[in-house]
Amino acid sequence: MTEGKARIAVTGLATMGSNLARNLARHGFKVAVHNRTPAKMKALLEEHGHEGDFVGAETLQDLVDSLQTPRQIIIMVKAGGPTDAVIDELSGLLEPGDMVIDGGNAHYADTRRREAALKEKGLLFVGAGISGGEEGALNGPSIMPGGPAESYKHVGPVFEEIAAKVDGQPCCVHVGPDGAGHFVKMVHNGIEYADMQLIAEAYDLLSRIGGQTPAEISEVFTQWNSGDLESYLVEITAEVLKHVDADGTPLVQVIEDAAEQKGTGRWTVQEALELGVPVTGIGEAVFARSLSGHTDQRKAVRDAFGASEVVAKPDAELVDDVRQALYASKVVAYAQGFDMIREASKNFDWNIDLGAMATIWRGGCIIRAQFLNRIREAYDANADLASLLVDNYFRDAVQNAEAAWRRVVVRAVESGVPTPGFVSALAYYDALRSERLPAALVQGQRDFFGAHTYRRIDRPGSFHTLWSGDRSEVEA
Ligand code: 6PG
Repeated sequence: MTEGKARIAVTGLATMGSNLARNLARHGFKVAVHNRTPAKMKALLEEHGHEGDFVGAETLQDLVDSLQTPRQIIIMVKAGGPTDAVIDELSGLLEPGDMVIDGGNAHYADTRRREAALKEKGLLFVGAGISGGEEGALNGPSIMPGGPAESYKHVGPVFEEIAAKVDGQPCCVHVGPDGAGHFVKMVHNGIEYADMQLIAEAYDLLSRIGGQTPAEISEVFTQWNSGDLESYLVEITAEVLKHVDADGTPLVQVIEDAAEQKGTGRWTVQEALELGVPVTGIGEAVFARSLSGHTDQRKAVRDAFGASEVVAKPDAELVDDVRQALYASKVVAYAQGFDMIREASKNFDWNIDLGAMATIWRGGCIIRAQFLNRIREAYDANADLASLLVDNYFRDAVQNAEAAWRRVVVRAVESGVPTPGFVSALAYYDALRSERLPAALVQGQRDFFGAHTYRRIDRPGSFHTLWSGDRSEVEA
């Protein structure tokens, strides 16, 4: 350690980067700050220099020179090319044992590649998922660092200090080697997409079938936020719904109904397809956003068929039924997300502790929610759960909600309100519970046209029926 030098550095001072640097400084860490265009660095020092001990660096060389060794540099630039460019430049300036930490939303495969490349140079590379948006970066995010265990000895204590805390525990843990941290952050975002879609469907049902105004639905969400559904996303939904334009029109009614995406939800689904894990809730959410953006196609179909007219038919049960359907569908979405992490962990030998992931998502991040405590308890009780759904608590919760969940799906389908999230979550649950699935018929079809063979339930081996011959069965 060198007296007077900075403990850690941040390069890339857009909102997330500068808020993270301020968070570090506010926690007493001397932090060196750098931006490709120095004006941003100077503006940060001018506006927030009084919040802690900052060292401004005009160049990456200055940044490197300002740091204690082993050096720790957090990169907060755009994922992809810009991140590679900074890593390339930095790796020529650093010494063996130094650490480069990518705090952006990088694809985990890029993180694996970068970690391997920097290892060759004796550098430690940490892909750290950071969630919580601007507010979290400043006041306490949830941090999901991957990379070599050795790096966590150095960056772990710093991250644990600036992370959100729940029941005194920091929302940060070493997730696993190489790309594990960014993988978990990607799935976090996928779950975020699913959760947001389910909440949006609940709003749509209360609006179109329940005939409620956004202000009334805001009240409903506020109430829900004091029960099992307590979560950041439910809380902000109530805020968005009660917000009005200058003329009193609810804002939600004037926002264009075409949802955008930066890509982490899509990545999650692409990876789930590779791993063979059915994350149907995340898939439906990604496709729902995509569908909403096809405005010309939507108009063409509306013109051809006439816009669907939903007649509001509120009844006393609707609000509570939707609450229960939302909860059950949400359990399914999280169960699928955790399945995906478990599968990737096996595949890449990451040894990820699923209970610890639930623990660090309890605060700071976008999907923070009361029920993550239950998920943690479920994995603490049995780390090898076949599915979250079979944990006693979640089994009871889903069983209790089942009748309401079915009523909601039936009403949505009858009325013409699209609820792909609710419907597919229920179908997933029903499929898992079925004694027999029609997959048997699919196997028969595959064997018919492609001699792809099938297995039988009554004896071992693979078989083929001579479909175009005498239809006798042969062992394959
Ligand atoms: C977070 C958020 C953050 C961001 C996502 C979502 O965890 O803080 O997930 O990473 O809001 O990129 O963005 P899109 O909805 O645009 O994909």
